[in-house]
Amino acid sequence: DQLLQEVSSFTSSGKEETEQFRLRFNGKKGILNDLFEKFKEVPSDRKKEYGQRINSLKQAVAAKLDELKNEGETVTAADKEDLTRPGFPLEMGTRHPISIVKHRINDIFRSIGFAIAEGPEIEDDWHNFSALNMPEYHPARDMQDTFFIEQNPDVLLRTHTSSVQIRYMENNEPPIRILAPGRVFRNEAVSARSHCIFHQVEGLYIDENVSFADMKQTIQYFTTELFGKSKIRMRPSYFPFTEPSAEVDVYWGLNSETDYRITKGTGWLEIMGCGMVDPAVLSNVNIDPEKYSGYAFGMGIERIVMLLYQIGDIRLFFENDKRMLDQFKSI
Ligand code: PHE
Repeated sequence: DQLLQEVSSFTSSGKEETEQFRLRFNGKKGILNDLFEKFKEVPSDRKKEYGQRINSLKQAVAAKLDELKNEGETVTAADKEDLTRPGFPLEMGTRHPISIVKHRINDIFRSIGFAIAEGPEIEDDWHNFSALNMPEYHPARDMQDTFFIEQNPDVLLRTHTSSVQIRYMENNEPPIRILAPGRVFRNEAVSARSHCIFHQVEGLYIDENVSFADMKQTIQYFTTELFGKSKIRMRPSYFPFTEPSAEVDVYWGLNSETDYRITKGTGWLEIMGCGMVDPAVLSNVNIDPEKYSGYAFGMGIERIVMLLYQIGDIRLFFENDKRMLDQFKSI
């Protein structure tokens, strides 16, 4: 009874004291073993009572140890963690250079009132070709080698983001001012200069009295924001969905303020196609060409990233080589 009393009133101030308590009762030479040893010598008429008493002592000890163990754990949980240890190195990912430049282009146009629009990568003939003034058998379709998913009726991977122009004009009234970035696909041999997948950004502005001069001004503003002070020129070109059409070149000169980014490839470099939206295209999407006019432009993002960061091979964008991507960590 005295021992039972001792067990139930025991409190521990720490691990060491608890351990001593355990040894005193449960150890090899502890009280319990000792009592069990003595059990043999107890006269048989008293064995039953004696046995019960040892058992209740044993249970009390076990219960106490359990209690102390739980207590110990709550008290020392924080002590067990070493808060001064250095953390696990969580490596941050990087934005892909295509995304970095795409966001910059988006931001520049957003700041002058363009909204971002998107369209599907799997297109039909109408949105990718016919509505853009390229009817069936039009030779201009050969300008873009197309991946067909199905033929008659044609389902294909869009060859340019101009399809988004059509989708947007079908569903919205002028004034329209949108920018449509996205992936496009062309059935071309993969090389350092061209890939079967790449990215474009399409711009479209439709309103009353939009002029070629408005377009030129906007493009000049854009190249200045993106490349720093820059010279551009426009060369006459041909697209079935714009008239007149032009190709925009930007000048990479060793004496320009863009020097620090460019070590080779000086001279005029083509960065986009553009033009005044052909009245036939406006009619295709039920916009009155007598009332409205507008311009459109389209540029390849890869080409621009390659210029900005001096990347010599377009295939690097799609290989996800960490040594390449890690170089964009700080940007
Ligand atoms: N869609 C054309 C291309 O992929 C680019 C372009 C867009 C030209 C808009 C004029 C106007 O080559």
